Amino acid sequence: MATTYLRLFSLLILLSVAAADIRSSEVRSDDRPIIPFDEFGFTHRGRLELNVSQIALSNTSPDLDLSNVGFFLCTRESWMQVLQQIEDAEITCALKSDHIKPVYTFQSLNNAQRFDAVYQQSEADQYTLVFANCLQQLKVSMNVRSAMYNLDKSGRRDYLSAGKTILPRVYFLFSLIYFTLAGAWIYLLYKKRLTVYGIHFFMLAVLILKALNLLCEAEDKSYIKRTGSAHGWDVLFYIFSFLKGITLFSLIVLIGTGWSFLKPYLQDKEKKVLMIVIPLQVVANIAQVVIDETGPYGQDWVTWKQIFLLVDVVCCCAVLFPIVWSIKNLREAARTDGKAAVNLLKLTLFRQYYIVVICYIYFTRVVVYALETITSYRYLWTSVVAGELATLAFYVFTGLKFKPEAHNPYFVVDDEEEEAAAEALKLEDEFEL
Ligand SMILES: *[C@@H]1O[C@H](CO)[C@@H](O)[C@H](O)[C@H]1NC(C)=O
Repeated sequence: MATTYLRLFSLLILLSVAAADIRSSEVRSDDRPIIPFDEFGFTHRGRLELNVSQIALSNTSPDLDLSNVGFFLCTRESWMQVLQQIEDAEITCALKSDHIKPVYTFQSLNNAQRFDAVYQQSEADQYTLVFANCLQQLKVSMNVRSAMYNLDKSGRRDYLSAGKTILPRVYFLFSLIYFTLAGAWIYLLYKKRLTVYGIHFFMLAVLILKALNLLCEAEDKSYIKRTGSAHGWDVLFYIFSFLKGITLFSLIVLIGTGWSFLKPYLQDKEKKVLMIVIPLQVVANIAQVVIDETGPYGQDWVTWKQIFLLVDVVCCCAVLFPIVWSIKNLREAARTDGKAAVNLLKLTLFRQYYIVVICYIYFTRVVVYALETITSYRYLWTSVVAGELATLAFYVFTGLKFKPEAHNPYFVVDDEEEEAAAEALKLEDEFEL
């Protein structure tokens, strides 16, 4: 088991070495009519630097019209118009459309094997760099290096897309918040040290990993912003992401089972949930690395995205089972062991937790994705902020509800409360019938 993890882990690190926002791709004997490369949000001082080398065409006859082969920039809306034009037979090649911004056609190549081009983009929008090859049966091989950036006020290059350029600051701010929370948590553990359980140290570990993860993400993004490549920080970022993902899901399972604060051991079926969730998290993290590194037009991107979504959904569902089992057990205990009030309190707590976990999962998966899709490229950071705020709320809720208590409210109940609780439970049963 351990060696498998280790091997997967080194794969994770190997994969992430290729990280860069300046993208290099190899095209080999390719006759696809359209090859999209990368997408970027330009401000009105945008630049595209294109270096293409080792160009080889399968057909070198001089009567080929190479103005039908080349690179261009295009927004999503104008791409729709181009497709319409082609459908209406107004044009035969996307490169001939007036809705695109031609960057370089192979007509200017004059049998050279490489070219460098700089394109200045002054119309702010989100563009995709596309290679079009409108000649049938012409196969193209080449190495493409593309760098897209915006110039800031002082003329420095900013390699982060227009809507993402403030992300380093956002991540840094959130990491400060988590470090503060971790400090507060340590203080609380110290003050209530007589009623601290194992789970509370686990929660501390999750908090610190989350803070470190955000710090690395901030540093990673800020390095990309300055240089266009990720250089090492991304490896740290992926390592902490991986640890954070595993510990967070384990924590939800452990709290759901009531481990250490309700009972000192895990049942077999609860251990099984952990044994499913942890390996799946490994897969999810590998998928995430591949998704990030290849970009939306990379080969197999869609496959990995689907793997990631599938695994994520399975993990999210799996962590709910232990909470449901706990709720069921507590309901049964409340009826049989005569301590209705104690059990009802716990039951309420677990029900709340169940709902909050579902809200957290729903918000960070569905709502954030929807925001990402509908917001303009200039405000892409808002979906990140929304996701991080939801996560923060979830962490704070979990901390408040399961913090160590000086006197444990779950175990000290007087007779009056006991009667009231028994009554409430009876009512609830009638209600459900
Ligand atoms: C790419 O092309 C630009 C523009 O000619 C040039 O300034 C730059 O040095 C080239 N980069 C590489 C890596 O060749």
